[in-house]
Amino acid sequence: MSSQSTEEKEKAPQPQLPENWDDVTPTMKETKILSANASTKPNLLRKSFASHPEGDCDRNKRPSLAKHVLVCPAAKEREETCSREYYQEGTNTGGHGDLGDDGNNNMMDAGGEETTDLERAKQLAMAVLKVFCSVFHQRDELSDDVLKHVTEEDIYNALPEVDLSSAEEGIAKDIAKHRVKAGGSRHLHQLQSILGHVRKSGMIPTADDELNSPQTQNTSSKVKLYLVERSGTRGKAETKIRTATGDASQDNDSLRLDRVEVSRIKCDLAHVHMSTALPFLTKKAEKSRSIVVAKHLCGAGTDLALKSLRDVVQSGAVDGCVMATCCHGLCTWKDYVGRDCFLELFRGVGGVSTFAGSAFDQLRRWTSASVLEDSDHTRSAAVDDGDEHNIGVKSQNIYLVVKELGLACGGRGLGRACQRLIDYGRTEYIREHLFHSKGASPGKQDVSLCHYCSSDITPQNALIIAKRG
Ligand SMILES: C[S@@+](CC[C@H](N)C(=O)[O-])C[C@H]1O[C@@H](n2cnc3c(N)ncnc32)[C@H](O)[C@@H]1O
Repeated sequence: MSSQSTEEKEKAPQPQLPENWDDVTPTMKETKILSANASTKPNLLRKSFASHPEGDCDRNKRPSLAKHVLVCPAAKEREETCSREYYQEGTNTGGHGDLGDDGNNNMMDAGGEETTDLERAKQLAMAVLKVFCSVFHQRDELSDDVLKHVTEEDIYNALPEVDLSSAEEGIAKDIAKHRVKAGGSRHLHQLQSILGHVRKSGMIPTADDELNSPQTQNTSSKVKLYLVERSGTRGKAETKIRTATGDASQDNDSLRLDRVEVSRIKCDLAHVHMSTALPFLTKKAEKSRSIVVAKHLCGAGTDLALKSLRDVVQSGAVDGCVMATCCHGLCTWKDYVGRDCFLELFRGVGGVSTFAGSAFDQLRRWTSASVLEDSDHTRSAAVDDGDEHNIGVKSQNIYLVVKELGLACGGRGLGRACQRLIDYGRTEYIREHLFHSKGASPGKQDVSLCHYCSSDITPQNALIIAKRG
């Protein structure tokens, strides 16, 4: 480490002052709690203030941010996270593909006239149905009249329902035996089905093969489980795993917690440089398998996770991934990995020549309608104007659009179509950039989408399954 003179320190580039820096300086002048060296005080404060995670603690309970930041657990935790070797600010952000230049994303009608917001939204809704039918029903060039008659059921049934939970029922018994919190019977059902898909795709052996495999018999071999999650643990199952002991009487159990080694990376996926965090993924090892599983990873989280795999998959060490997607309303164009696919589909089949970020923004907002009753107009306002899903762009009310166009699929159907298209864009990214199975004949693709359970178990029931070819 090199040592810097005071003069050099002062010349070094300074962190940007936060916007509300004026709120801080008077406190700094008043307090004298920091170094006696006045020249270093502003830098220290600038740094601490800039790294203080807003929203993690109550602003009203910290009248002096300058003092508070020195003791704030959230600020300390953030500092610790940022100091980890794998931490690379924003390494998995940015999605993939052309952002498209839409200015304000105004769509032009055939005569080159700019259309109104509602007209634009209606064009987009028809484009969603057109693209959906092309992608999922292989039906291009359907007339507007035919598209308006597409039902919610047609949209739902475009994906096969493949619930594989029943083959894994032993897990439920063992989870109860070990008193592992699995989030209740619906979550358990989903876990079982996801596991079933992992086995069916051949990424791990079937339950019977597993019991008879020499690796399972070898009590010293362990499964390594790495959890990446930005929030805290709150009594999750891993405590049970860490403290589990086992003996020969459990050899036939489907859940051997004592044979799992668990580690947690507590960090936003945006910043996890995967090959640094998990270097073993950069080398394919004989007899070793690695799979990536995500369950209900919200919005852009799925895109960040996929992007985090881009350099590790080259080694061939990742055998595949299964990802149950969720909260499509929280996706962002900037982090979406399916941009190329969307631009091609919406500008081509969809006929929206200026499709880009704000059209995507409209579409991801509409996804929230997939879980609401079309008749519920009080809640429908929240779909367009409300809550944490709103990132400041006024969107057109989906129910008005549906009514004006007379769409048989209703808001639920249109919302679901938007969700599936977002997921489809992700499968295309996987095909093109992760597992390269483009060109495989239909039905033999190694990347697919299905409903892994019924929508009664969870309305967010889509699963991306991708296997290294
Ligand atoms: C809907 S919860 C699902 C939790 C659990 N997997 C389940 O199925 O019940 C979504 C989880 O994804 C995590 N998450 C979302 N975006 C993330 C990101 N960018 N990086 C890390 N974790 C993220 C959240 O912290 C949250 O715990």
